[in-house]
Amino acid sequence: MTASSPSTADLHARYRAVLPSYVKPMYAEPISIDHGQGSYVWDLEGNRYLDFFGGVLTTMVGHNNPRVTAAVQAQAAKVMHTSTLYLSQPMIELAERIAGLSGIPDARVFFTTSGSEANDTAILLATSFRKSNQVLAMRNSYHGRSFTAQAITSHASWSSTSLSGLQVTFVQGPYRLRSPFASLDDAAFTQAAVDDLSQLLDMTSAGNQAALIAEPIQGVGGFATPPDGFFGAMHKELANRGILFISDEVQTGWGRTGDHYWGYQAHGITPDIITFAKGVGNGITLAGVVARAEIMDTIQVTSFSTFGGNPLSAAGGLATLDYVRDNDLQGNAKAMGRRFLDGFGPVVDQTAWIAELRGRGLMWAFEITATDGLEPDPNRTTAVLEAAKAHGLLVGKGGLYGNVIRLAPMLDVSADELDEGIAALSAAIADVH
Ligand SMILES: Cc1ncc(COP(=O)(O)O)c(C=O)c1O
Repeated sequence: MTASSPSTADLHARYRAVLPSYVKPMYAEPISIDHGQGSYVWDLEGNRYLDFFGGVLTTMVGHNNPRVTAAVQAQAAKVMHTSTLYLSQPMIELAERIAGLSGIPDARVFFTTSGSEANDTAILLATSFRKSNQVLAMRNSYHGRSFTAQAITSHASWSSTSLSGLQVTFVQGPYRLRSPFASLDDAAFTQAAVDDLSQLLDMTSAGNQAALIAEPIQGVGGFATPPDGFFGAMHKELANRGILFISDEVQTGWGRTGDHYWGYQAHGITPDIITFAKGVGNGITLAGVVARAEIMDTIQVTSFSTFGGNPLSAAGGLATLDYVRDNDLQGNAKAMGRRFLDGFGPVVDQTAWIAELRGRGLMWAFEITATDGLEPDPNRTTAVLEAAKAHGLLVGKGGLYGNVIRLAPMLDVSADELDEGIAALSAAIADVH
């Protein structure tokens, strides 16, 4: 902090005075973030924190990643904005790269500025292509804050309106712990979800459904992770009826899940549409939609996004994806995920008020309940969040009842950093005992 810079407390008072009440900083005494390096951030007072949340899985390859920072700086000095009215090399190169990575045949890419806008676009495409306003989404989902994204969100505490031009049916999703199917094993749970879907399609739809949109692992929903093959079984039922599958990869893309590059790949399917955002720009505004040409080109009029695919974001995206590839960060996510499970799994086993540890790769969450029961305990969850902060570790919160701690270290997290995080988290849990 310099003589002229504000204190964290000053910023908090100004934040509260000028931002809407529905945006809320975390922690009783919120943290300012002044700068970051790799897996660490520093506040205005110079306190250092190990960042295991990345601004909600968005800083993906480390703060001030030299390769990404250099690419963005170099592009800023050339040209920052062109729009799609002109030919911009970084945008075209990034679209080619993402189309190739997507696994979707004959893919086209449309860039947007947020995950919400990407999901809006996906729903626009699917409903136009299928000539239907009926959409299926998963219970416990979160797809963004825009009007359309809110309509396909199934989270009472995040749903700000019930108004919509869509007719949405929410189907059984991957969140098993508190579902009617909690006691079933993987195969039976998957079958129950498929049977439920099939009955819903027969009983609740009026003709064609346009699409099902799903997060392969539900992010805001507390990293609810389905059994492998779950979406494959759902997809069979949908494909039989011509219903499109939209995979919202906003949190699960780019190798985060370790075993796969995309979350959908755990299910043996190829989606019709993928949406992406967050990590791809390592914090710079970058998002979009990938779809088969026949679906993307269903829009016959001119469409346009002023900032979508701007050269600054595209340069950041290309550098991020190069860094992920050149350092095999999917492999690192897999190895570090295993290390996390080995290190933290025993702590979970010894803690009677942690109901479940779930996730994969570098995407882990645990659910906090009453001791030896399933009653959600959001107060204890807040206490763990605060205690982790006191031990210098930033983690996230989530879940329908605000009783889930979410962890998403950088994809290039080192073994030492991971161990430091496990130690801090274990100490936080011991404090809350
Ligand atoms: C799975 C998922 N989809 C979409 C969004 C919306 O993205 P954005 O906040 O960039 O609009 C989010 C945001 O958290 C998300 O987690």
